[in-house]
Amino acid sequence: MNTLVDIRRLKKHFPIRGGVLRRPIGAVKAVDGVSLTIKRGQWLGLVGESGCGKTTLAKTVVRLLRPTSGHVYFDIPDAPKAQIEALESADKNSRELASLLKENDLATFSGHRVQLFRRRAQLVHQDPFTSLDPRMKIKNTVAEPLIIHRVLSGQAQQTAVKDLLTRVGLSAGQMERYPHQFSGGQRQRIAIARALATKPEFIAFDEPTSALDVSVQAQILNLLKDLKKEFGLTYLYITHELLIAESVCDYIAVMYLGKVVEMGRPEEIFHTPRHPYAQSLVAATPVPDPARRVGRIVLPGEVPSPANPPPGCTFHPRCSRASKECHELEPPLEPVGGDHYVACFHPL
Ligand SMILES: Nc1ncnc2c1ncn2[C@@H]1O[C@H](COP(=O)(O)OP(=O)(O)OP(=O)(O)O)[C@@H](O)[C@H]1O
Ligand SMILES: [Mg+2]
Repeated sequence: MNTLVDIRRLKKHFPIRGGVLRRPIGAVKAVDGVSLTIKRGQWLGLVGESGCGKTTLAKTVVRLLRPTSGHVYFDIPDAPKAQIEALESADKNSRELASLLKENDLATFSGHRVQLFRRRAQLVHQDPFTSLDPRMKIKNTVAEPLIIHRVLSGQAQQTAVKDLLTRVGLSAGQMERYPHQFSGGQRQRIAIARALATKPEFIAFDEPTSALDVSVQAQILNLLKDLKKEFGLTYLYITHELLIAESVCDYIAVMYLGKVVEMGRPEEIFHTPRHPYAQSLVAATPVPDPARRVGRIVLPGEVPSPANPPPGCTFHPRCSRASKECHELEPPLEPVGGDHYVACFHPL
């Protein structure tokens, strides 16, 4: 599988303003140095506690937000990326570097180039009750991306909308209705149809089923599975529900306070988590399999504020294994066998 999305040292900080002049007095480090690759055809799960930066990461990757620093490459071969890395360590101000970044790094794109990219990468939001415009008929909601990106018009557009709605399990007869006339699950289907309109290669889902009943959740997950297969899609899937991540994802990344602390295949993350945070997250999940019940680990302390993260390993104030090193140095994400990576000086 080749790499479709390649995120390198990505940061997204939100300024905190204060005083009468509203000057920046600090920053919320929502995403703080994430490196991650998503292979073409992969279903990558992103898990972590509320506020750890999952939504911000997804929005930055699809360029609804502009990164503070770092790189996001979408469907870029290895050669220019390697050239950029080499030039960055040799001469940060070279013109060659600037032109390579402009050509390849999504983080530098603006205006028309972002627009062009958005056809290829879409985001589906968590809440189908607020993500659809209540005053817009469904046919217009689904057609909107086709209009914005000038993909299709007239009769061809209407036919495409009908096909999309049918494909996600709704009927063409429902085109003239408004969002309030649909259930939560149906609304999420509409949002998915809309995301598919421009024939994207990549879709980021931000907790797409967390507002839905369990039975509806399963239907939506099945739909996503089918669509992925049919259209050869690549997914970034954010979820609170570890059991869902385990059942549908090919690969999982665990985030804590703006960083990825562990990633690996679902069986590695759920059976042999190596980072103390990932372990506590897994332990806190009720599982139907008694053989896997490791006992609930309750973490001491609160999640620190991303505006003022602790030095060294950001997890150290809550970690029973923390040593002096953990207070001072940031552990790099390193391989612990196969595709399993952990950012910890004392992995389990
Ligand atoms: N536009 C913004 N301006 C300032 N701070 C923000 C903004 N968006 C997010 N944040 C902050 O960034 C941090 C990460 O937020 P984010 O929404 O990415 O977390 P999350 O992991 O998606 O959480 P949840 O699971 O609750 O959805 C939080 O502290 C949040 O308050
Ligand atoms: Mg979120």
